[in-house]
Amino acid sequence: MVTIAQLSDPHVGSPHFVPNLMNRILVELDELNPDAVLCTGDLTNEGFAGEYKAAVGYFSQIRQPFHVIPGNHDSRNVGYVHFEELFGERYWVRDIGPVRVLGADSSEPDQNEGRIGRERYDWIREGFDCDAALKVFAVHHHLIPIPGTGRERSTIQDAGDLLELLLAAGVDLVLTGHKHVPHVWRLEHMYIANAGTCTSLKLRGHTKPCYSIIEYDQGQVRIHRKYPFGPSTLIAHWNPRTGEQYHRDFEPLFSAPVSPHPREHDTGIPEPGEPVADVHT
Ligand SMILES: [Fe+2]
Ligand SMILES: [Fe+2]
Repeated sequence: MVTIAQLSDPHVGSPHFVPNLMNRILVELDELNPDAVLCTGDLTNEGFAGEYKAAVGYFSQIRQPFHVIPGNHDSRNVGYVHFEELFGERYWVRDIGPVRVLGADSSEPDQNEGRIGRERYDWIREGFDCDAALKVFAVHHHLIPIPGTGRERSTIQDAGDLLELLLAAGVDLVLTGHKHVPHVWRLEHMYIANAGTCTSLKLRGHTKPCYSIIEYDQGQVRIHRKYPFGPSTLIAHWNPRTGEQYHRDFEPLFSAPVSPHPREHDTGIPEPGEPVADVHT
């Protein structure tokens, strides 16, 4: 089994950053001992050198391989310079066992909007031209609107082209952040999983700080939402080869699913028309 912990949007240096949550996550990572820890951006709040150094103080305690890409906040105030000095490349390819992960910087200095750009498309194609059992693309900005996040803004500017490119490249899973709300979409054969903020109280609605745990085991993928100090809940479970979906959580603002699932396994989610019991509680 391959286990990847995805942290996103810690925002070290923000008045909304909670050090106690970060310290707790470090303890939980130590106990979980994943094969890798991935951070999908917004490590800092303003891209300042002091914030970067504080972030290094936390992340240097992670004893597993640590892979990180910047977010829009990290590229403020020329913060990408500190990122490269302290964390390295902003575009990278990593193999975590049979799982290939491409990380790409979608930030533009002093802009909240994201962009990958056509000049990177060949690199993405070549990166996924491999026999990996699971292909994962990691990027900070969301590629598709996230429910429960208010007015849509700051998606990746070339999201349409990028989605088509990733589907054609056989990508199984896209890991994003930025919106601070956890959610999973399925688009054709590809899953797009947005992680919440792990340590910031800059939240929306009833969302709580959390991080994601991705497991790849015997051809199946599970994504769990883990609350620091709290429980872990399964938010998606599927087989990328057969396309069979066993479970996918719905945004709690909506009490009933809008489309049916394969029902070979009990998902715990009612079908349309089925009585809905205590979904909100
Ligand atoms: Fe953020
Ligand atoms: Fe962001």
